[in-house]
Amino acid sequence: MEKALIVNSLRQMDHLAELIAMHLQKGDVVGLEGDLGSGKTTFTKFLAKHLGISETVNSPTFTILKIYQGKLPMYHIDVYRLEDVGYDYELEEFIYDDGITVIEWYPFIKKMMPDAYLYLKIEVVDETTRKVTLGGKGTYAKIVETIGNRYGN
Ligand SMILES: Nc1ncnc2c1ncn2[C@@H]1O[C@H](COP(=O)(O)OP(=O)(O)OP(=O)(O)O)[C@@H](O)[C@H]1O
Ligand SMILES: [Mg+2]
Repeated sequence: MEKALIVNSLRQMDHLAELIAMHLQKGDVVGLEGDLGSGKTTFTKFLAKHLGISETVNSPTFTILKIYQGKLPMYHIDVYRLEDVGYDYELEEFIYDDGITVIEWYPFIKKMMPDAYLYLKIEVVDETTRKVTLGGKGTYAKIVETIGNRYGN
């Protein structure tokens, strides 16, 4: 299941993140795909805010994993630097069942992803507009349908 959404501004990205946060539960995984500067970290910052995280979220590119504490822990992972090593890495431990796991550049570790997860493909349309393809593997298809309808595009 996929829904294509037009996100016209940071405010709308914030709104989309809010809708998604409302549907996330302990153990959920969100994969983010999109070019450099498309908005993966920006989306994650908004998501964190709506998960009750007050700490500032920064790009984890150089640390790979950052953990934030909100209502639930949020594990923010950026696997950009793993492009070359791919799935030879021990990545199973990258999925955490006691919180929400957000993975920037998840296509690099697609083979390590769980059977069910939510994903966002972010494409730049212009300076402030993004096309977001919201998708759900496995049990996440229903969430995509609900959010797609509520977002109203
Ligand atoms: N509607 C929008 N949604 C998301 N970001 C937007 C939007 N409009 C403008 N931007 C800007 O686009 C930039 C996105 O940068 P960001 O660091 O989030 O990208 P990224 O995908 O995480 O890149 P990287 O691959 O380098 O980690 C930010 O400067 C943000 O303010
Ligand atoms: Mg980023």
